[in-house]
Amino acid sequence: MAVLLQRPHAAAACLLLCYLGGVLAVPDPRQREALIRLEASMQTGGQVVLTDAEQKLDALLFKMKQGEMARTPFPPAVHFFKARDLIRASPVFNLLQKMPKGGALHVHDLSMVDVEWVVKNVTYRPHCYMCFTDNQSIRFIFSSQWPKALPHCSPWTLLENLRAKMINTTDFDNSIMGNLTLFTDQDPETLYPSQDEVWDKFEQAFLAVWGLVTYAPVFTDYYYQGLTQFYMDNVMYLELRALLPEIYELDGSTHDTAWTLKTYQEVTRQFTADHPDFFGARIIFTIYRGVNASVMARVVEEAMKLQRDFPDIMAGFDMVGREDTGRPLWDFRDALSLPAERGVTLPFFFHAGETNLEGTDVDQNLLDALLLNTSRIGHGFALLRHPVAKDLSRKRGVAVEVCPISNQVLKLVNDMRNHPAAALMSENHPLVISSDDPAMFGASGLSYDFYEVFVGFGGIRSRLGSLKELAINSIRYSSLTSKQQEVALALWQRRWDMFKACSTGTLLMENVENC
Ligand SMILES: *[C@@H]1O[C@H](CO)[C@@H](O)[C@H](O)[C@H]1NC(C)=O
Ligand SMILES: *[C@@H]1O[C@H](CO)[C@@H](O)[C@H](O)[C@H]1NC(C)=O
Ligand SMILES: *[C@@H]1O[C@H](CO)[C@@H](O)[C@H](O)[C@H]1NC(C)=O
Ligand SMILES: *[C@@H]1O[C@H](CO)[C@@H](O)[C@H](O)[C@H]1NC(C)=O
Ligand SMILES: *[C@@H]1O[C@H](CO)[C@@H](O)[C@H](O)[C@H]1NC(C)=O
Ligand SMILES: *[C@@H]1O[C@H](CO)[C@@H](O)[C@H](O)[C@H]1NC(C)=O
Ligand SMILES: [Zn+2]
Repeated sequence: MAVLLQRPHAAAACLLLCYLGGVLAVPDPRQREALIRLEASMQTGGQVVLTDAEQKLDALLFKMKQGEMARTPFPPAVHFFKARDLIRASPVFNLLQKMPKGGALHVHDLSMVDVEWVVKNVTYRPHCYMCFTDNQSIRFIFSSQWPKALPHCSPWTLLENLRAKMINTTDFDNSIMGNLTLFTDQDPETLYPSQDEVWDKFEQAFLAVWGLVTYAPVFTDYYYQGLTQFYMDNVMYLELRALLPEIYELDGSTHDTAWTLKTYQEVTRQFTADHPDFFGARIIFTIYRGVNASVMARVVEEAMKLQRDFPDIMAGFDMVGREDTGRPLWDFRDALSLPAERGVTLPFFFHAGETNLEGTDVDQNLLDALLLNTSRIGHGFALLRHPVAKDLSRKRGVAVEVCPISNQVLKLVNDMRNHPAAALMSENHPLVISSDDPAMFGASGLSYDFYEVFVGFGGIRSRLGSLKELAINSIRYSSLTSKQQEVALALWQRRWDMFKACSTGTLLMENVENC
């Protein structure tokens, strides 16, 4: 009671409690109505005031959503690999694809582009070699000379020659694709019975993609194609977590980290010039969390230097890899305190709480991320179990980057209705929606994740206002300066107005072709 009374909605909460404490009688339906409205107003988007045109669209969307909620099987209750076709057939999904979703703030560099493009475009380029690892995965390299064999891999064969020997190249290409993604037509529960199996395949798939994407000409085309796929999905801004690996040329020479970052900057500029309604992209430099403390210290130094030399494109720093088997943040406290000690700015965007190992060292990552002054929390799947971390995240406006499909495929949750972020959304906790590694999961852009959130978490009461607030959140909680955010929001608003008009058919005839 005392706690409740400190909250902004205490008065209304008291309506109920005081009532229960009073004389027993049939509850007053008006009070009940008030409480229902109060709860609805506390959710993400609950306070958003809709314009007339938006109300029209909201009504349309509500109808669609009612249809969606009645579907069996209910797509958010089904593993995404099996639900994907169901989702594609959904009118709600089709509307979400057209909706300007703002920015994607949690996406990884090597999983932006669907594997079909990678196989059909990249592996058909000349000088591409492939080998088979001891445990049925594959590796690639481009080289002007016959490359030196890799340990635990068969001798290299020129892919062109191998393909020429295949009876059915479609089957062969599909088998390559199968190595580059977790997505499968088989039953995912059988193929990946536990987190260990799915993470093992996940890591193998990254290693398989590695040699293809770190080849300089592919690197630039891949990134441009990645931006294209997000842009086609009506995403206007990206914060990309990037390993900034050594990029190689056909003769085996390599480029350093600064070259890689500069290339990201140049390709982003080119893309934005080609697509003026795209706002841009920034890079969060990442390092594998399995490294030791001295490597981490060296990399943090490098990150500070990059942040100083490339302030426009560099957004900050993070660590990648499975939290459960990597080192906890606390192991790196010395290295990660270097920027603060020196008075140097290096914003952090830590993955934290992507685990269900409650109470372990790994599970402390959420609190430690906040202690280390993180700007956002990647995943935060375990946040509900940490009331203090949750409170800090809310008070400091440290948004949680929610990536529902990733959490389902990597086996933290089965039925999306049980995703912990559903509870965060019901109280408008600062959060953004993202897609993590869409190519690995057989998704693309942001729309599939928005679908899972809107239909799976939101329930029937989450409506257009929720979607609007989520899109705006993606700009508000981005690393952009407040001035840049204003410009981005204005751009988003123009696209939103167009979306509204197109979806409700209230556009002037001469503009219809822009829909
Ligand atoms: C691959 O994509 C690049 C960039 O979009 C394009 O220029 C090239 O023609 C494509 N190559 C193949 C073999 O499809
Ligand atoms: C596959 O081989 C690699 C390299 O030899 C090894 O690191 C990895 O653990 C192996 N995976 C499995 C599932 O055996
Ligand atoms: C190759 O395999 C695919 C699928 O397995 C099949 O649809 C196609 O007809 C085959 N093509 C040839 C030339 O046999
Ligand atoms: C990986 O590629 C090899 C070679 O084409 C193939 O034999 C294997 O079945 C593929 N694995 C998957 C999971 O598709
Ligand atoms: C840390 O890792 C690096 C690279 O793997 C290695 O060279 C170095 O010896 C390690 N340092 C310590 C203190 O273990
Ligand atoms: C926390 O991070 C923000 C954003 O990078 C920075 O402006 C601020 O100075 C940092 N505060 C401390 C105490 O390090
Ligand atoms: Zn991630």
